[in-house]
Amino acid sequence: MINFNKKDWWKEAVIYQIYPKSFQDSNGDGIGDLPGILSRLDYLHKLGVDALWLSPVLASPQVDNGYDVSDYQDIDPMFGTMEDMRTLIREARARGIGILMDLVLNHTSDQHRWFREACKGRDNPCHDYYIWRDGVPGALPNEMRAAFGGPAWTYVPALGQYYFHQFAPQQPDLNWANPAVRQELYKMIRFWMDEGVAGFRLDVIDQVGKDPDRQITANGPRLMEFLHELNRETWGGKNLVTVGEAWGADIPRARQYSAPDGSVFSMVFQFEQMCLDHEADKWVPKAMTLPELKASIARWQQGLHGCGWNSLFWDNHDLPRIVSRWGDDGELRVDSAKALAVALHGLQGTPYIYQGEELGMTNAPYPLEELRDLESINAYHEMVEKGMPEADALAAIHRMMRDNARTPMQWTDGPHAGFTSGTPWMMVNPNYTQINAASALADPDSVFYTYQKLIALRKAHPVFVEGDFTLLCPEDEQVFAYLRRGAGQELLAAVNLSGRSAPFALPEAFAGCEPLLATQGAPQAGVLRPWEAQLYLREL
Ligand code: GLC
Ligand code: CA
Repeated sequence: MINFNKKDWWKEAVIYQIYPKSFQDSNGDGIGDLPGILSRLDYLHKLGVDALWLSPVLASPQVDNGYDVSDYQDIDPMFGTMEDMRTLIREARARGIGILMDLVLNHTSDQHRWFREACKGRDNPCHDYYIWRDGVPGALPNEMRAAFGGPAWTYVPALGQYYFHQFAPQQPDLNWANPAVRQELYKMIRFWMDEGVAGFRLDVIDQVGKDPDRQITANGPRLMEFLHELNRETWGGKNLVTVGEAWGADIPRARQYSAPDGSVFSMVFQFEQMCLDHEADKWVPKAMTLPELKASIARWQQGLHGCGWNSLFWDNHDLPRIVSRWGDDGELRVDSAKALAVALHGLQGTPYIYQGEELGMTNAPYPLEELRDLESINAYHEMVEKGMPEADALAAIHRMMRDNARTPMQWTDGPHAGFTSGTPWMMVNPNYTQINAASALADPDSVFYTYQKLIALRKAHPVFVEGDFTLLCPEDEQVFAYLRRGAGQELLAAVNLSGRSAPFALPEAFAGCEPLLATQGAPQAGVLRPWEAQLYLREL
């Protein structure tokens, strides 16, 4: 069990991300909730994870599923009450599991009290909590676009001003240049620290130093100053885990965000690898080769070793399902899900498991009316307006849409996959009759038990946490193999990330070694079977 009082405990931890709306409904309204999560703690404990990152459960009109917060210090009634949250924190901790809150500090909901006040007049004390530019209808301050479509500026006629929003118009950006805004946020963070959370995930945090006049969003001029202050005023010096989401991070910046002196965050959640298979416009595919992916992973492994800390993930609530994306969600689904798990969990950093990944859940190519995410729906309409045939637009959306990850968790082969006794807010993936937690738990060869084993191995062998990284056979188009060396041990990961057999010779030092983990039974000499993965360990 993790000792949460130990410095840097999170280096040994595995974190499980919950998308609360889709995890487990407890009261039949079709929406997952806190009592639902509580009822699944034993399942999570069995998997062996140390902490749960909850996507936002705070009061919100749910325009962006909780990433539009209207009250930072209250639980949305759809998810439960403050008392439910306290119970969850307590009961999780009793099982050795910490709770991470998702903090959305870049913007609020337009229904937040601050924004409603801000709209009352230019001299309202909250007006300067947001970013305003004078203007007249139709003449936008500049041509910046919002992430979910449309301009990044919305006009408020009563004020004769535009406000700035990087996301939906209902998500106005906070003005971090105003010290009062920052102090309000720090106070709120201390409130949650007092409630006993184990840490925080910080939403799009590299965008808070923005400078809209110069069209700068990520990595703005005052970003590091703000982040250092945020740390000092809140979790600095305390043993909390903090993970900063940073789409714009390169390695030098990531070293700053996850500096070992603890002056900013514990670790950085960056997206270089997860952006390799599409253009800057994520709906436009780009061919990616395995050597490219491996080179990128190697750069980050070596780039942060000893001077920063990586988050390891294939999936989250903004990404398609990895088994559909880079694995095989057909016949070899189970083998490919295991191979991807091993490839990731052998690396240095803190692994994240996104709900359902441990079951090998797949993408959800639903018809338009079953999609729920404003991003996919807006993008679809934009494509169709530009003249793309409807079927092509839908196909383009399906590949990268966030809805893929947001379908209800598949617990059983019963009605609505055991997610709800009512009507689910989003359609359950029809493959739940085959892919569900109950059948995974009953099958010793399931993806679930590979994850369970990987988590246990990380805790048993210090090389997982401490070892450095050497990439083997960088040009190989099928095999991802690497060495980790440290703490008097050497770990070898050999993974066939393709659906064809691949020649692979064990490095000499490992000849005759029994595998620590093998996903397809006894190894065959000189070859990895399709999607086969093995780990080997030797003492130095
Ligand atoms: C982050 C979240 C995403 C959200 C966006 C705006 O990228 O992960 O789900 O839509 O920020 O808050
Ligand atoms: Ca519910």
